[in-house]
Amino acid sequence: MAMRRVRRALPLRTRAWIERKAVRLLTYAAARAPWVWRWRLPSAFMRGTFDPMASSWNRTIGRHGGSWEAPLQAGLRELPHEPRRVLDLGTGTGLGGVTVARRFPDAKVVGADVSPAMVAEAQQEHRELANVRFVVADGRRLPFEDGAFDLVTCLNMPLFFAELERVTAPGGCVLVCFSLAERTPIYLPTAEVERRLKGHGFGEVRSSSAGQGVWTLGVRTGEGQHREHGEITGG
Ligand SMILES: C[S@@+](CC[C@H](N)C(=O)[O-])C[C@H]1O[C@@H](n2cnc3c(N)ncnc32)[C@H](O)[C@@H]1O
Repeated sequence: MAMRRVRRALPLRTRAWIERKAVRLLTYAAARAPWVWRWRLPSAFMRGTFDPMASSWNRTIGRHGGSWEAPLQAGLRELPHEPRRVLDLGTGTGLGGVTVARRFPDAKVVGADVSPAMVAEAQQEHRELANVRFVVADGRRLPFEDGAFDLVTCLNMPLFFAELERVTAPGGCVLVCFSLAERTPIYLPTAEVERRLKGHGFGEVRSSSAGQGVWTLGVRTGEGQHREHGEITGG
């Protein structure tokens, strides 16, 4: 409440500048000092930042044309197997989840986001797709069982490596994308993404660029557990 009042009192440009700096710092914290996110404030700050953007988010990313999703499309082409249970984390208005759901019509896809307004927008917009659903969830602590997914996509989203490791099945993949590379407000350098994925059980890791962005694909070490018609457990 107090945070909302302070935000409203600020001139728009100042507010946008502060929000950009703060989301970058919180992105670094998610990877480098995840204990910072144990308090409610970082998640509340993200909600307060992204809720008001929900109704105009598609126009914002539309300004970049297809290049916003280019790294995601490029990374999906490199998957070692067709995914059946997919989580798109920080889904916003659902772009990542819907891209995966259309590309793999047999997959069951969940788009999760901490911002209820973003999730409402995604639900409203993509009602026609039967294999994707959207839920409000915090990437810091996900309501899914261990190994619930064989693909987790993160498109312009803070990375909580311990949770990514936990919810990805052995043999499954994480695909991390930043649409505008280091100009993306939510961004972690590629070398660091690779190093942290390796440190969290993703033995095989590679990266490349596409459009104006970058992607990194990590394959979780261990026996493949790709159930032919697996259910997503939790959420
Ligand atoms: C820059 S937007 C990207 C949205 C979408 N992936 C895209 O590229 O169009 C970042 C999204 O991450 C969400 N987010 C931020 N922190 C989060 C968290 N801890 N858990 C889940 N979602 C989060 C925000 O609410 C926002 O919708």
